[in-house]
Amino acid sequence: MGFPQHRLRRFRKNELFRELIRETHLRPDDFILPLFVRPGKGVKKAIPSMPGHFQLSIDQTLKEVKEAKALGILGVILFGIPEKKDEKGSEAYAKEGIIQRAIREIKGKVDGILVITDVCLCEYTSHGHCGLVKNGKILNDETLELLAQMALSHAEAGADIVAPSDMMDGRVGAIRKALDENHFEEIPILSYAAKYASSFYGPFRIAAESKPRFGDRKSYQMDPANGDEALREVRLDIEEGADMVMVKPALPYLDILYRVKKTFNIPVAAYHVSGEFALVKAASQLGWVDGEGVMMESLTAIKRAGADLILTYFAKEAALKLGRGKS
Ligand code: PBG
Repeated sequence: MGFPQHRLRRFRKNELFRELIRETHLRPDDFILPLFVRPGKGVKKAIPSMPGHFQLSIDQTLKEVKEAKALGILGVILFGIPEKKDEKGSEAYAKEGIIQRAIREIKGKVDGILVITDVCLCEYTSHGHCGLVKNGKILNDETLELLAQMALSHAEAGADIVAPSDMMDGRVGAIRKALDENHFEEIPILSYAAKYASSFYGPFRIAAESKPRFGDRKSYQMDPANGDEALREVRLDIEEGADMVMVKPALPYLDILYRVKKTFNIPVAAYHVSGEFALVKAASQLGWVDGEGVMMESLTAIKRAGADLILTYFAKEAALKLGRGKS
């Protein structure tokens, strides 16, 4: 049976009817706000390709966390810009490292908002790769120990969730083991399980000062052409103990997000990455698109595809808009 008995426009007449059948609703607590923490005091250094985002000293980070909490945002994810970088990324797992200090400061002063930490060496290594390097090769097994130490140091500082983003094989298992052996069996792992070698990370690498000094990340991050392989990545990470998995980037990989959610039926996060954010901001500044419209539509699409959680640089703007009520 079709037209004229059926008219799908009946439910599109006005906003009340549209709300009646709306399947997806965004909420501020769908969002995680990424923050870039750097040394110093009173520092708030603008990131030009990411309008509204800054490299923040710890005191300024604290302010942002309080603001995010006031907006109803569920959590923050912290990225560190260390004082010094070296071959082994020592500050990544130092007790007094930038992130370890930031976590302690936040946890001592704010509650009611999750503190998630990114576990990866690239911001801390002089060569900018996510693992140890020998003769131009990114070593896998030797890196696992450092990642486990890094995650453990975050847990010791008070992190609520650790999120490995390095894409070394076996890191979820190594991190789970280190946490469990040190009585952090209650700290969950959010694994960047399906993380693609993407050109959409450009602005982040400037913000986090983590661009590789040679080569690229294609020997560890996934090939954008592959979908089935993402499911294998996710399956292995779940077997190793991941509590939640992530698909990254988000919009160009909604098919992956959908498949992961349908196949495994576990909590799934999507990372709406820096390049996705920058494209919208740039086009909106040129007057070529309605930035707010594109933002809300993008986030809604990510949630509709299956995301339980969205890491996004739009977290504050979107939460503010949602807080203002329906428009
Ligand atoms: C660290 C990491 C990256 C991002 C998150 N964690 C960069 C990379 O893999 O080069 C990218 C996030 C973004 O673009 O917003 N490995």
